[in-house]
Amino acid sequence: MKLFDNLQKKIDKKKSIQKHYISKEQIKQTAKENSRIIKELEKQNNRKNVPEEEYLTKMRDSNNVVEFDDLHAYFFTDAGIVKAVDGVSFDIPKKSIVGVVGESGCGKSVTSLALMKLMQKPQGQIFSGEIRYNAKDGKAYNISKVPREDMNKIRGKEMSMIFQEPMTSLNPVFRIGDQLDEILFLHFPGITPEEAKEKSITMLKTVGMAMPESVYSRYPHELSGGMRQRVMIAMALSCDPNLIIADEPTTALDVTIQAQILDLLRSIKNDINGSIMLITHDLGVIAEMADYVVVMYAGRIIEKGTAREIYKNPQHPYTVGLQKSIPALNLNDEKLYTIPGTVPNPINMPNYCYFRDRCNKRFGKCDGEYPATIQISPTHSVACYLAEEIAAELAKSKDGEKNAKK
Ligand SMILES: Nc1ncnc2c1ncn2[C@@H]1O[C@H](COP(=O)(O)OP(=O)(O)OP(=O)(O)O)[C@@H](O)[C@H]1O
Ligand code: SF4
Ligand SMILES: [Mg+2]
Repeated sequence: MKLFDNLQKKIDKKKSIQKHYISKEQIKQTAKENSRIIKELEKQNNRKNVPEEEYLTKMRDSNNVVEFDDLHAYFFTDAGIVKAVDGVSFDIPKKSIVGVVGESGCGKSVTSLALMKLMQKPQGQIFSGEIRYNAKDGKAYNISKVPREDMNKIRGKEMSMIFQEPMTSLNPVFRIGDQLDEILFLHFPGITPEEAKEKSITMLKTVGMAMPESVYSRYPHELSGGMRQRVMIAMALSCDPNLIIADEPTTALDVTIQAQILDLLRSIKNDINGSIMLITHDLGVIAEMADYVVVMYAGRIIEKGTAREIYKNPQHPYTVGLQKSIPALNLNDEKLYTIPGTVPNPINMPNYCYFRDRCNKRFGKCDGEYPATIQISPTHSVACYLAEEIAAELAKSKDGEKNAKK
């Protein structure tokens, strides 16, 4: 019997190795298929002199700056298709901060890079879906269809990005002033060097930089991490954008500087009268800053709502887990909660709930297909079988109220 068990174990092990093994032939086949798809998508992207009507669209709600509508953004790799963003829909309303939260690798950055059309080329592509952008001049652009050359008109002037690690975004061999001025020369043709310098120094003052004139003539390595991040914010602000995308803007900073940068972002939002898409894996940062929260898991949105709904009434077990893993001062000696397990392989996603293998609330239904998104309030939605029961109870209690009124 023991011999049989051992034999079975060996067969199972071999099978699992075979499942993850990709033969040379398969790689060749995948590369060929990828190259065909990429060629087609790149042809669309590289078109020149495309009439604007081809990529103009209409916003679903004119009060939104951005509407992600069933966005699919993929990486076509030799090992297979990485579905980094797999059917994401959410809005960024005007004058609001929308927080996008989720653990590493869930597709937060790729969502924002797709919006800026900055995914790594050629393998990174917007495969399908729409990203509608409401520009300052009242036109609505379908970003997924905007050709590369026309995207330069939107990037920087309309929306700009603050990256996680400023040292990688600043050029180490140019002075801060030159890098700030360059953006102005690019977006405001005709601006004189003196005007550009004056505006750049004003921007440095706006972001609370002490001795802006001196910082203007320094190199990036002569500044501290917090100062570099302020320079990045000044760069993002210099063209007066409608939308700022801040991708983990405080992760590389210590806690006091973090708080200052968050305060700065908040005041900037009021100054530019625009919106911020704030990406982080820290639900605590989102709690302080955001009006709306989008929780992503493995390329999909598993819960979204107003910040109040997500904090006071989280429904998805993953959101509940994320909240429990925020350090609290009153924890005494208790160990900090961690969500067990890891995210499934993005190339080989299961056909059931992606969180199932880590979920402590799973029940019979969870073995079925991926759960549908359930609306539990006009602004709050959840993709989880548990929410179905809550929605049914809510409907029942509403019916009860109606009957009582009759
Ligand atoms: N250039 C690339 N080629 C292939 N896969 C990529 C590439 N860039 C990102 N991915 C994959 O896309 C998925 C989403 O990545 P993304 O960078 O959006 O994660 P994230 O949520 O921003 O994580 P983090 O919090 O660590 O920044 C991951 O599975 C990642 O491996
Ligand atoms: S659908 Fe089931 S397994 Fe998935 S998060 Fe909800 S309860 Fe957990
Ligand atoms: Mg990221």
